Amino acid sequence: MAADIKIVPSVLPCDFGALGADLERLEDAGVDKIQFDVMDGHFVPNLTFGQDIIASARKYTSLPFEAHLMIYAPESTLERYVEAGCDLIIVHAEATTHLHRTLNQIRGLGVHSAVALNPATPISSIEYVLDSCDMILIMTVNPGFGGQAYIQEMEPKIVALKSLLKARNLDIPIEVDGGISPKTVAGAVKAGATHLVSGSSIFSLPSGLKAAVAELRELAEAAMS
Ligand code: DX5
Repeated sequence: MAADIKIVPSVLPCDFGALGADLERLEDAGVDKIQFDVMDGHFVPNLTFGQDIIASARKYTSLPFEAHLMIYAPESTLERYVEAGCDLIIVHAEATTHLHRTLNQIRGLGVHSAVALNPATPISSIEYVLDSCDMILIMTVNPGFGGQAYIQEMEPKIVALKSLLKARNLDIPIEVDGGISPKTVAGAVKAGATHLVSGSSIFSLPSGLKAAVAELRELAEAAMS
């Protein structure tokens, strides 16, 4: 149900040397799914990891995995992320020449598809592929690094996407990623986002992961009502 709030940790702040233990902590903290930030050092100015890390992480939790492919030409490696255990694959509209084909290629592999838009990319760029999407990700930072400031100017973009989806009678969730914290979550949810990716914020609360996840969920649900 698109109306449900989902708290989605980014693994960027995790200790990659003990990722399994961090995933067990995240599951215990009550998160809904895990986002793996795959970066190629070209589409974004940072290099993280590929499908092998995700595959090695799979055995530590039964939570759904989503691969956020911040890579050029994602269409050439989609199968690897499915084999690694991802339930949903996010590609960037800016990173693939044939977006419609790529989204349907993902669905053809038996998993859910999603498209991400960088802050400067207009919604018009995905107008003709909405029917091929199971989720839309609106970046609220310029992708590449965690710990960046939330770009509030994205809220009107979320509002516009929400009304476009309503007009098309499409009940698919809007996810936001970047600078999501107790301070910014209400604005994003009020605009129409329900899947909330958070990295630095949930890992930095002194009261710990469980409290941070609960606080974010509480604030998001309050903003929905
Ligand atoms: C793109 C990354 C980050 C990360 C979240 O840069 O995808 O947005 O997931 O990082 P925070 O929550 O620290 O902004």
